[in-house]
Amino acid sequence: MKLDEKQIKENWKDLMGRIDHQFEGERKEKLLEMYSYFEERMMFAPASSREHFHNCFVGGYVDHVLRVMDCAFEVYNSWVSTGGYTDNYTIEELLFSALNHDLGKVGDMNTDAYIPNPSEWHRKNQGQLYKANSETPFALVPDRSLFLLNQFGIKYSWNEFLGIKLHDGMYDDSNKPYLMGYNPDTRIQVNLPYVLHQADMMASRIEYERWKFGENGLQNVRTLKDAPMDKIKEHIPTQSDIYNPPVPKKVKAVKQVTPNSRQSALNSGSDASKLFDELFG
Ligand SMILES: [Fe+2]
Repeated sequence: MKLDEKQIKENWKDLMGRIDHQFEGERKEKLLEMYSYFEERMMFAPASSREHFHNCFVGGYVDHVLRVMDCAFEVYNSWVSTGGYTDNYTIEELLFSALNHDLGKVGDMNTDAYIPNPSEWHRKNQGQLYKANSETPFALVPDRSLFLLNQFGIKYSWNEFLGIKLHDGMYDDSNKPYLMGYNPDTRIQVNLPYVLHQADMMASRIEYERWKFGENGLQNVRTLKDAPMDKIKEHIPTQSDIYNPPVPKKVKAVKQVTPNSRQSALNSGSDASKLFDELFG
């Protein structure tokens, strides 16, 4: 799998167009500044180091990011049309998280994360076309993505933080405390990280299959291109037309507990469950 010079340039133009059309104000300007800073390195970066992972070729990183943005939009629409709750985050937050989720794969401010592997044996026998750059300090990709945004003064919302931090889902052990909380008070309250994780998995799998099965029969589909945000919003299904919202649970009346009623309950010699019922209804 290879991209030619024209495709690499077109992908870069598409990426910058999306930033220009889908974000606003100071944040857009800072995003454009950051992406311009990384242009020469990012445009040619791979998305992974081994050919059997995904998009391990020159220009693979940008191609992957564009696909994740497309998949995120399609997955989001599936959540909307099947009744998934999407009201507590915005499509802009989702696309911002998708755009920047793998930023750390480019490297840090001055050095690349991956460099071409000089070992012909590893390239040929193990598909390790790239290797980790020893000049770039180790970091988990989401951590470095968030660090780089910070370096350019690009603010992100808590939803966007969660989207970038958790985009690898349960593949990253450090995500477990966020994703394995089952207490209604503490479990994650927003679906954006799930949508982005599904989109990233979908894109990576498509890219792996493009490598495994070759380009025959594989279509290069771009759904969002550099469409303006209002055009994107036109293609979001309206949940109320499709799906009946869930009926809220009936709230049980809570019995008022006064100091007197608490005292009489304690004096009545009732057992623990009776006492609990008496106190809390
Ligand atoms: Fe990714």
